[in-house]
Amino acid sequence: MSKGPGVQKMFDAIAGRYDMMNRVMTMGQDQRWRKFVVKKAGDPDGDKSLDLATGTGDIAALMVDTYGAEVIGADFSLNMLLEARNRFAAKSIHWQACDANNLPFVDSVFDSVTFGYLLRNVDDAGKVLKEVSRVLKTGGRVVCLDTTPPVKNMIYPFLQFYFRFCIPAMGKFIADDETAYAYLTGSTMEFYTAEELAHLFKEAGFTQVSFKKFMFGTIAVHWGEKE
Ligand SMILES: C[S@@+](CC[C@H](N)C(=O)[O-])C[C@H]1O[C@@H](n2cnc3c(N)ncnc32)[C@H](O)[C@@H]1O
Repeated sequence: MSKGPGVQKMFDAIAGRYDMMNRVMTMGQDQRWRKFVVKKAGDPDGDKSLDLATGTGDIAALMVDTYGAEVIGADFSLNMLLEARNRFAAKSIHWQACDANNLPFVDSVFDSVTFGYLLRNVDDAGKVLKEVSRVLKTGGRVVCLDTTPPVKNMIYPFLQFYFRFCIPAMGKFIADDETAYAYLTGSTMEFYTAEELAHLFKEAGFTQVSFKKFMFGTIAVHWGEKE
């Protein structure tokens, strides 16, 4: 069964408390990683940029603030998009409801495509990456932010404790949804390692692929270019 409908329902349910939970859970670091995403995407220089799985719109808004870019923020959760529109009503961002598996855009239109916390939530990350490549111009950049399974080193038991117990507990008290945040833990631990994900980017046809980890190796930003 496809993950899509369940994921959509989950984000529709937590949309109102999503931002607060993010700030607490990441100890206020989440915007720093999004700024790094925007830096890696670079200035679209008059061309269009797509922020896929835009959620409540932070990356899209940073693209506008940083470069004055023309940005489309796209997501399949209407409640997340409504939050985004309310939060950034003063910015000229076009909000678009769509599924990352089938983007409603013609080939080769975007100078950059960014996405935060998308690939863990789809059935076939390779397929989504190929769809992203399709809508990117030649030389266009893709930048992906997501959680990543931590490597088993000395701090692993602490990270495991934080993911297995603290995050679902915070989800229960702050977002009133323990299940959604237990899903975050499960989907992170089962997700590709950063190295495997980089390989998937290359298989989807991207070049200059690289990544950087944050937050004790639990967050990774990957980037690449369409050949
Ligand atoms: C964890 S939120 C991230 C929001 C935002 N990018 C951020 O940095 O906070 C993940 C978002 O991905 C969206 N999403 C998940 N699967 C999707 C899909 N197949 N198509 C479009 N949006 C999707 C969800 O609706 C949700 O808003």
